[in-house]
Amino acid sequence: MVHSSAFWEQHFRQNLTVQRVDWSMAPAITTEEKERILYSLKAWQLGETSDGRHLLAAAGRYASRIGDPRYVAAVQQFIREEQKHGANLGRYIDLIGAQRARADWGDTLFRKVRYFNRSMELWTISVIIVESAAQVFYQALHDATRCPLLKQVCTDILIDEAHHIKFQNERMWMIFQRKRFYNKAVSLLLYSFLLFCTIHAIWYGHRRALKAGGVDRPEFMRAMYYKFFSTVKFLHRRESTPELALAQ
Ligand SMILES: [Fe+2]
Ligand SMILES: [Fe+2]
Repeated sequence: MVHSSAFWEQHFRQNLTVQRVDWSMAPAITTEEKERILYSLKAWQLGETSDGRHLLAAAGRYASRIGDPRYVAAVQQFIREEQKHGANLGRYIDLIGAQRARADWGDTLFRKVRYFNRSMELWTISVIIVESAAQVFYQALHDATRCPLLKQVCTDILIDEAHHIKFQNERMWMIFQRKRFYNKAVSLLLYSFLLFCTIHAIWYGHRRALKAGGVDRPEFMRAMYYKFFSTVKFLHRRESTPELALAQ
């Protein structure tokens, strides 16, 4: 099932009204846990706080080209949800008396890539790869602590990310369908290269926190390839629905 932009806009609007984190709880992270995960927690918090300007610009150009103005509104709501993740993680960092990160090499690199990226296709596949890594990371963070508040923050993000990947996979499907056979083959090579680079950068940057959550390198790579091939499989679905017609 491929949903329309209006569906996704409504979904994100509604989801933002659901409060899944009980902020009346005090954080209960141990010094040991902090040592293992704080660096990555801060780095991902920073990564979740982007204003989404470049993504919105790319979405605007793409939406007017295909005649789907509601897509911009859906992306706007999607960005708000990412900012909610940044706000929640930031609030947690403040509560445990740590300093929020102002810069991180991974974030700087990703921001530079985003700055030069004007293609909706590249945006979408990059977001899918990073969000797949986010699923593995936040699950590891959840498992690396006994703090109920941090666990709740992670679970809330994990629920949202599952929908983000669906939203982006569907858009990727629409983009992919319009390609000819050899274009598809070349694109798949490019996506695989992007996956390979990204997963190595994320593993080397965040291996300590991932290991603390029980994810070693083979498991991280396995999970990432599994998610990537699920996306590739989704891209090869033969489907056309009335809702899709609406979206295009
Ligand atoms: Fe997020
Ligand atoms: Fe996300």
